[in-house]
Amino acid sequence: MRTPYDEKYAGEDYYWGFRPSRTCYKVLELMPPDRPLRLLDVGCGEGRNAVFFARNGYQVTAFDLSATGVEKTKKYAERVGVRVRVFQADLNSYRLQEDYDIIFSTGVLQYVPPHLRKELLEDYKAHTTEGGLHVLSVFVRKPFIARAPDAEDTAHPWISGELFTHYHDWKIEYLTEEIFDCMSGGIPHRHAVNRIVARKV
Ligand SMILES: C[S@@+](CC[C@H](N)C(=O)[O-])C[C@H]1O[C@@H](n2cnc3c(N)ncnc32)[C@H](O)[C@@H]1O
Repeated sequence: MRTPYDEKYAGEDYYWGFRPSRTCYKVLELMPPDRPLRLLDVGCGEGRNAVFFARNGYQVTAFDLSATGVEKTKKYAERVGVRVRVFQADLNSYRLQEDYDIIFSTGVLQYVPPHLRKELLEDYKAHTTEGGLHVLSVFVRKPFIARAPDAEDTAHPWISGELFTHYHDWKIEYLTEEIFDCMSGGIPHRHAVNRIVARKV
C-alpha cells in the first residue's frame, strides 16, 4: 500500500531533514541513557529522531506506516553506524508486544481517529515501565487558526488540551501549547501543537 508520505519520502533527500525534534532533548534531560533504556518512536518518518536517540545510546525500536520511511530510516541508521529496529505498521491496528522505558511520537497522533485514542494510549501506558516516560506532540485545532492548505483528509487534529486529559494519573513533567509558522506546500500558514512529557509513577 502506498501512502501520501511515500510520495513525500520518494526522493534521495530527507523530507524532514536530519535535525531531531526539540522534544528529543527533553528525553535526554529527564531520562538520560545512564543504563540500558528501550525507546519506541511511533511514526518515525525517515528516522531523524530514532537515529538521534540510537546515537545517544538508547535501544531504539521504531515503526511507520510508510514503507519508504522505514527503508530510509534503516539506511540512515546504517550510514551513521547505529542499530535501530524498524518495521512497517499502522498505529491504528498495531498493539505493543513488549514494554518500553520511553514512548516517543511527534506529529503523528493526528492520524488516530478520536474513537481510538483512549484505547491506543491505554495500550501504550500499560506497556511502559514504572518511572518511564511518554513524550508526545499532537497537532490541535484552534478557532483562530485556519486549516493548513495542504492538510490531509486522513488527519484528525486533536482538541486543544485533549491529550493532557489522558495523563491525569501520571506525573506531568512538561506541558505546552505552541503556535508556529509553516511553509509546507509553499503557502505560509500556522499550526498549533500540544506537547506533553508524562512519567508513569
Ligand atoms: C509529520 S510526519 C512525522 C514523522 C516523524 N515523526 C518526524 O518527526 O520526522 C507523520 C508520519 O506519520 C506517519 N503515519 C501516518 N499515518 C500513520 C499510521 N496510521 N501508522 C503509523 N504511522 C503513520 C507518516 O507515514 C509520517 O511518517
